[in-house]
Amino acid sequence: MENNCFNMTPLGPDAHNTLGTVCIFGTGDFGRSLGLRLLQAGYSVVFGSRNPQNSSLLPKGAQVLSHLEAAQTSRIIFIAVHRENYEFLSAFSQELSGKVLVDISNNLRKNQYPESNAEYLAKLLPQANVVKAFNTVSAWALQSGSLDASRQVFVCGDNCESKQMVMDSARSLGLTALDQGSLLAAKELENYPLQLFPLWRLPMYIAMGLTAAFFIYCVLTEIVYTFVTEGKDHSFMIVVSIANRVFPIVSLIMLALCYLPGVIAAILQLYNGTKYKRFPDWLDKWMLCRKQLGLVALALAFLHVLYSLVIPIRYYVSHHRYIYTVSQLKDNKSLMFDNSVAWRNDSFYSLGILGFGLYVLLGITSLPSVSNMVNWREFRFVQSKLGHITLLLCTAHTLVYDWNAFLYASRYRWYLPPANVLSLIVPCIVLVLKLILITPCVDRVITRIRQGWERKSAHAPHDTSGQPLAL
Ligand SMILES: Cc1cc2nc3c(=O)[nH]c(=O)nc-3n(C[C@H](O)[C@H](O)[C@H](O)COP(=O)(O)OP(=O)(O)OC[C@H]3O[C@@H](n4cnc5c(N)ncnc54)[C@H](O)[C@@H]3O)c2cc1C
Ligand SMILES: NC(=O)c1ccc[n+]([C@@H]2O[C@H](COP(=O)([O-])OP(=O)(O)OC[C@H]3O[C@@H](n4cnc5c(N)ncnc54)[C@H](OP(=O)(O)O)[C@@H]3O)[C@@H](O)[C@H]2O)c1
Ligand code: HEM
Repeated sequence: MENNCFNMTPLGPDAHNTLGTVCIFGTGDFGRSLGLRLLQAGYSVVFGSRNPQNSSLLPKGAQVLSHLEAAQTSRIIFIAVHRENYEFLSAFSQELSGKVLVDISNNLRKNQYPESNAEYLAKLLPQANVVKAFNTVSAWALQSGSLDASRQVFVCGDNCESKQMVMDSARSLGLTALDQGSLLAAKELENYPLQLFPLWRLPMYIAMGLTAAFFIYCVLTEIVYTFVTEGKDHSFMIVVSIANRVFPIVSLIMLALCYLPGVIAAILQLYNGTKYKRFPDWLDKWMLCRKQLGLVALALAFLHVLYSLVIPIRYYVSHHRYIYTVSQLKDNKSLMFDNSVAWRNDSFYSLGILGFGLYVLLGITSLPSVSNMVNWREFRFVQSKLGHITLLLCTAHTLVYDWNAFLYASRYRWYLPPANVLSLIVPCIVLVLKLILITPCVDRVITRIRQGWERKSAHAPHDTSGQPLAL
């Protein structure tokens, strides 16, 4: 084991552990769990409590003293008390002077207080060395061995030695300590456990919004329309037919939305003549959640493939086939084999299968265990080049399926175009723009801009009316 002993005052005859003594203020859920893990790791643990007599729940082997007595036993003190109760610590400012105080506290809301809890503690006790750590680990995870929870302990503080001591303690518990810099980072660390899937939120809203919109659109143009105009009840179609229309459509649009920001970014760079100008905030946010957009889109494509597998065994389909065969027999007709239909049908399936294969490959390379194994160029080759090919194949699959739907007036129900025609708008825009961007004359300029070249006028000084100044 690495040498992670603290430089602390020995505890006395009761101290049987070898790594040194650690003090914990507060005998609540977190204090107890942390105490147990520290004891198991080989530390002597001393709790500081308002009520040292009431210690029945504490881990066996730990000592409970008053705050004052406990503070004297160790150089490092974990403050397992809520921020709202920190005031009581001011009474011990002298005893805590020079000690390493580990602020593990969290708040109920993001940015609940003007300053972070750790900075507040540092203000209350200016003579102590405050380190923010352990707030992203839950008491339950500590108690259960943290095997199924994040092992990362983010640490920040202004005193390097104190920070090192806290990081060593985290490592001795089998956790991964990550230095996050000075105490200024504490607010970010405190906000971190309060976030709820921040990068997944926008993709989930997009997926839910598009799914709801296309679901209503399809129900209106297919089920309600058939009922109103022909008096037929096709509501059963909601379960498989409409689902297998909406999911692939939303998947295709979301796949295109993964590649649209890259195209917009390239156009902006061309327009600005430099790569050193910041992208607008909305574009930055969009670029950051492309992985999540892609993974949600992949999940919807999976659903589409599963739904497509059941098509041949559907009652509706086999009934149709049966009626058709009987009518052919009755009329003594035989259906001729149409080579062009066979080509189109096979191409449609083949394009879908190839597109889905590459889609899955994109999903696999986005797994951290895989992306860590490839270099940046390889990752971009798969995500960017193969990603655009995936979009091309999936768009072609949809086009071949029903490419001429928009040509027939009968397909416009209540003047609304078929849903699959609508689904092609964004992917086609992305593909056409990408095609323009990769033409040699445009690509050459983008490549130069990305290598740091700037158009002269891009940074030329401007007069107050915005006109470039003659130099
Ligand atoms: C299933 C699935 C999984 C996905 N997983 C991931 C994932 O794990 N991670 C991820 O990021 N995306 C992921 N995506 C989204 C998408 O595949 C990638 O973001 C992809 O890299 C986008 O390619 P692009 O060419 O549009 O953008 P990029 O290759 O990011 O380029 C976009 C813009 O960035 C700028 N740029 C690029 N290179 C440079 C440079 N050298 N110098 C200056 N500016 C530059 C340019 O402005 C360029 O236009 C996933 C998508 C799917 C469908
Ligand atoms: N629980 C978690 O999973 C978790 C995870 C990360 C961070 N945290 C943070 O850890 C800290 C403790 O959380 P917890 O869940 O252990 O809370 P808790 O169960 O409520 O325990 C807090 C402890 O603080 C002490 N205390 C209460 N009021 C006090 C007062 N007025 N003055 C002095 N001490 C007082 C008490 O110990 P005594 O009776 O012994 O004095 C009490 O047991 C919080 O800041 C929390 O944000 C908790
Ligand atoms: C194994 C791969 C795939 C198979 C077998 C397959 C099969 C099918 C089938 C059978 C249909 C017609 C559905 C119907 O009649 O209602 C269809 C339509 C469609 N597919 Fe695929 N597909 C595959 C992959 C994909 C992928 C990866 C995408 C991209 C997102 C996609 C997008 C679409 C779209 C948008 C439609 C039109 C939906 C509609 O309007 O009905 N498919 N596909």
